[in-house]
Amino acid sequence: MKPKALVAGNWKMNGLASSQAELEALTHYLKDGAKADCDVLICPPFTLLSVFANAASDDIAIGAQDCHTQTSGAHTGDISAEMIKDAGAAFVIVGHSERRADHGESSVLVQEKAKAVHAQGLQAIVCVGETESDRDSGNTLTVVLGQVEASIPDEVTPENTVVAYEPVWAIGTGRTPTVEDVAEVHTAIREALVQRFGDAGNEFRILYGGSVKPSNARELMSADNVNGALVGGASLKASDFNGIIDAYRNR
Ligand code: PGA
Repeated sequence: MKPKALVAGNWKMNGLASSQAELEALTHYLKDGAKADCDVLICPPFTLLSVFANAASDDIAIGAQDCHTQTSGAHTGDISAEMIKDAGAAFVIVGHSERRADHGESSVLVQEKAKAVHAQGLQAIVCVGETESDRDSGNTLTVVLGQVEASIPDEVTPENTVVAYEPVWAIGTGRTPTVEDVAEVHTAIREALVQRFGDAGNEFRILYGGSVKPSNARELMSADNVNGALVGGASLKASDFNGIIDAYRNR
């Protein structure tokens, strides 16, 4: 059976207390609009996690954008998966390319973070993706599958892990791969998951991320083995995000 799609918003370092209005607007869209055949997730900054978790309706899950590998201790400025759970969140993004690039996070570290997420009974969204030079040199699949292999722990299940394929060059640039290119990478990830986890490999959700917007969502989401989206910029405004969720509404 095809995994149920997930449309996830990654707010990155955006959002103030006043942004709760967007959460409320999204709640109304989901309640009043046609039912969408997907799960919906918002990942605000840490400062808004508990506010959003308390305010969100049952239609919207809340997640964090990163966590530390340890549960607690002398790690100034860091946040643990236990704290995230305590704040009421259900998901944690790990290994986003901005973390890998800005904070030098390796796939080995990302795997440790995913384990920390699972230890709290939360779902990890493990991000992978090639740079533009990887793609130009024909190394997309090698890089992406290498990250999948090294970033995902052995003990995962489709219930606690989501994979997000985000080509680094497509993030925040307005550029996207073709549907064929997306399908090629997603199918390769699917095959790697099946090879490693057997039949369960078919049940993992594999999200596409990178410049998803209302105008291209339906097409990108139609690609083989795409089970939803991880959305940055276009998730900040409820009307745009709802327009992406439309890809999972009958029209
Ligand atoms: P974007 O970001 O939608 O703004 O390209 C996607 C992401 O980084 O998750």
